[in-house]
Amino acid sequence: MRLENKVVIVTGAGSGLGKAVSLKIASQGADLVLADINGEAIAQTAAEVEAMGRKALQCVVDVCNGESVNKMIADAVAAYGQIHGLVNSAGIFSSIPFLDLTERDWDRMININLKGSFLCAQSFIRQAVEQKTGASIVFLSSISGFIGFTKSAHYCASKGAVRQLSKAIALEFGPNGIRSNVVAPGTIETPMNAWIIDDPEMHKQSVASIPMGRFGKSEEIADAIAFLLSDEASYCTGSELLVDGGQITHC
Ligand SMILES: NC(=O)c1ccc[n+]([C@@H]2O[C@H](COP(=O)([O-])OP(=O)(O)OC[C@H]3O[C@@H](n4cnc5c(N)ncnc54)[C@H](O)[C@@H]3O)[C@@H](O)[C@H]2O)c1
Repeated sequence: MRLENKVVIVTGAGSGLGKAVSLKIASQGADLVLADINGEAIAQTAAEVEAMGRKALQCVVDVCNGESVNKMIADAVAAYGQIHGLVNSAGIFSSIPFLDLTERDWDRMININLKGSFLCAQSFIRQAVEQKTGASIVFLSSISGFIGFTKSAHYCASKGAVRQLSKAIALEFGPNGIRSNVVAPGTIETPMNAWIIDDPEMHKQSVASIPMGRFGKSEEIADAIAFLLSDEASYCTGSELLVDGGQITHC
């Protein structure tokens, strides 16, 4: 199987894309470290992973807290010995007009989406460098990291910055065999987008802007992430994979 003998940490594993990628890579032979701030949600994902015959270590973690993140890595190493992959899927979205954005809104968004990705990557890389096995990190950016959207300057800024974080890591740790790549989803059917999916007018408008005429499915993002984690992507680093049904492909 494609990911046999790999141990992968997935943050945000309790919901949406994190859950979908956990199930996908478990089906491809990986053992998992399921990390999320929501313990009940990861217990549910863990039950589904274990039903496939794979291992699932559950870590309740706040990705914005360095101590919590370091404990996650230490627990993962204690359980498995080595870790080979990290998927940074924990994240939040909120729609707020620019002039209404508070410092608190800004800090929360940047802390979870950007600082959280940094802390997880740094702690993971310390372990990966010591292991000398090579490793793969996948960051979740977004089409909002490529183009602007109204009422989400804080989200767009966080997702643009994640792209640069990934590239800087790719450069610094290429010599260690540590690959760092970005997946940038378009509008995907997950709980994060319930506010669009459940509003008939928003739904219609949003789908009209997508050449493929539909929202993406979590499994379609999971496939892209699984590829970047696998040895089939052994020469991919610093790359960015847009998975958006063509939503931002304009000439
Ligand atoms: N769904 C989309 O259309 C879409 C599009 C582009 C990018 N993304 C990005 O993909 C990632 C996953 O999105 P999703 O749709 O699966 O969202 P989701 O809301 O379904 O899941 C996010 C998960 O992150 C967890 N989380 C939030 N804060 C956390 C914290 N501080 N520490 C640990 N876990 C925390 C939540 O508990 C939740 O389980 C996000 O980074 C998001 O920005 C999603």
